[in-house]
Amino acid sequence: MPTLPAPRAARTLAPVVALLAALLATACSTPPSETSVRPGANERFLDPALDVDEFVQMFEGESREIAVHRAAILARLDLRSGMEIADVGAGTGLFMEPFARAVGPTGVVYAVDISPGFIEHLTDRARDEGLDQVRPVLCPEDSVGLPADSVDLVFVCDTYHHFEFPMTTLASIRSALRPGGRLVIVDFERIPGTSRDWVLGHVRIGKAETVAEVTAAGFEYTGELPVDGLAENYMIAFRAP
Ligand SMILES: C[S@@+](CC[C@H](N)C(=O)[O-])C[C@H]1O[C@@H](n2cnc3c(N)ncnc32)[C@H](O)[C@@H]1O
Repeated sequence: MPTLPAPRAARTLAPVVALLAALLATACSTPPSETSVRPGANERFLDPALDVDEFVQMFEGESREIAVHRAAILARLDLRSGMEIADVGAGTGLFMEPFARAVGPTGVVYAVDISPGFIEHLTDRARDEGLDQVRPVLCPEDSVGLPADSVDLVFVCDTYHHFEFPMTTLASIRSALRPGGRLVIVDFERIPGTSRDWVLGHVRIGKAETVAEVTAAGFEYTGELPVDGLAENYMIAFRAP
């Protein structure tokens, strides 16, 4: 039987219908992107005029509890030669050199940050200090930008409360971690009535809420890692499925 030509209107509309169907399919398969929980939280780190030296003084000075007790924090991480680890929110690189020494020349340290200014600084610092195992990674604000199953440990220090998109960022951390890999978070205790006003204003949530968010993202909470000398900060650990 000869094929009849499609009516003109149907032929004209066919590509439009196909396009609409494709758009609908995409809309249904892409999860809605997360709304920022803290708009503008990282403005100063993203400023093209970022003064890195100012932040080196601030993050690595003796007045910062985390800097003073860096060795004790490091000791609790149980790092081994050959490990592949990520410092998410690496900042000025407070942990970069000790991490690189701990994993040795066969390991890898991904120094991940959203700030182009810090990434440039970390790249120069790693080169100047001969840390060939360090790989600086400039990531978007909703993903750590690491390949799937690429790391044994993700370290997030004084950065979780800066995540504007915690759930999508946590999903990317979960994907980057190898099965059974660890996520360790160091952040401020936030206790109304006890914590400093600056902490209460600056830090979005306290330890219990952080544990709840991270476990909701599919991680198993393995407990607190007490660090001698830390009074204003806590360190907690999770395991990826
Ligand atoms: C307060 S600084 C802490 C830096 C470093 N971890 C330390 O303790 O010295 C927070 C850092 O997190 C980075 N940051 C904020 N949101 C981020 C995200 N979603 N992914 C990766 N880095 C992020 C900022 O650019 C900044 O370098």
